[in-house]
Amino acid sequence: MIDLRSDTVTKPTTEMLEYMTQAEVGDDVFAEDPTVIAFEEKVSKIFGMEAGLFVPSGTMSNQLGVKVLTNPGEEILIDYKGHIYNYETVGASFLSGVQINPVHGKKGKLSVEDVKDSVRGNYDWEPKTTVLCLENTTNKGGGVCYSKEELIALKSFADESNLKVHLDGARIWNAIIASGIEASFFSEIADTISVCFSKGLGAPVGSMLLASKAQIAKARRFRKMWGGGMRQVGLLAAAADFALEHNFSKLEGDHQKAQKLASVINDCSKLSIALDTVETNIVIFDVLEESASDALAKLEKEGIRMVQFGPNTIRCTFHYQITVTDLEEVIRTIKKLFG
Ligand SMILES: Cc1ncc(COP(=O)(O)O)c(C=O)c1O
Repeated sequence: MIDLRSDTVTKPTTEMLEYMTQAEVGDDVFAEDPTVIAFEEKVSKIFGMEAGLFVPSGTMSNQLGVKVLTNPGEEILIDYKGHIYNYETVGASFLSGVQINPVHGKKGKLSVEDVKDSVRGNYDWEPKTTVLCLENTTNKGGGVCYSKEELIALKSFADESNLKVHLDGARIWNAIIASGIEASFFSEIADTISVCFSKGLGAPVGSMLLASKAQIAKARRFRKMWGGGMRQVGLLAAAADFALEHNFSKLEGDHQKAQKLASVINDCSKLSIALDTVETNIVIFDVLEESASDALAKLEKEGIRMVQFGPNTIRCTFHYQITVTDLEEVIRTIKKLFG
């Protein structure tokens, strides 16, 4: 089976598993796991942030980011395709008591134009908008990246409007490769950053919240409250570190494969794709003559898995365990079924 449903389906390699067994561990709830401490320092340094907190999932690091930046009763802005709005089971409202205002941007990205009339709080009866959430790369938006200029403009708007910025960087590694923006730049535009090691980098588990020391101290308490305090978790931090060291440079290959498939899809009479959305490892396309579920069933019979993203919309995602031979097989099948 060639599994293109997500870049989260990678399996740990023998080398990664061996590396994990060598990790020096301690009880991380006591802040005594040397591997976790070293990894948090390493990643926060890469991004130019003061401190980091290793957590089980991107959902938890996003939710902790929202938690440390808001007070109950406030409002946060996010693109209507954003992960925090669509796929975190109303967590921001439930855990932080905030209202999400989903703004219509483009391809999952927001611009100053999109958000300029959405900041509220001048009257007692209005919600008070306090946080701008950005996603880079965008998942539901097709894996597109922000440019430096777009981020600088959003950050100065946020400053003028007294908004803090949370960056959902589940696939920030792909954005760094595709946009050429250095990791440390993101500390200039965001107060809190969530990064994941369990997407294209291929770790089995693990994300990190990056923020100031004070915010991380606060986040540690909520991580414990939410059941995310882990004990000898250096094993997993070691896997995440291995993934970062060995697989970051492979992301470029995933982007090239995504481009190749997108151009084949573009030539198929029964499929439609907006080629300008394909910037990284995600390919989102429409099926023209049948439902997405029927098309997915046909693909499954041919040994290829993708995922439904709408009544006629399909997403496929590349990761380093999809080989060139796999891609050739996918291209052959797509041409045969939808050419
Ligand atoms: C953009 C984005 N943010 C956050 C997450 C959540 O990550 P996790 O599945 O580790 O909770 C995902 C998951 O795919 C994502 O795509």
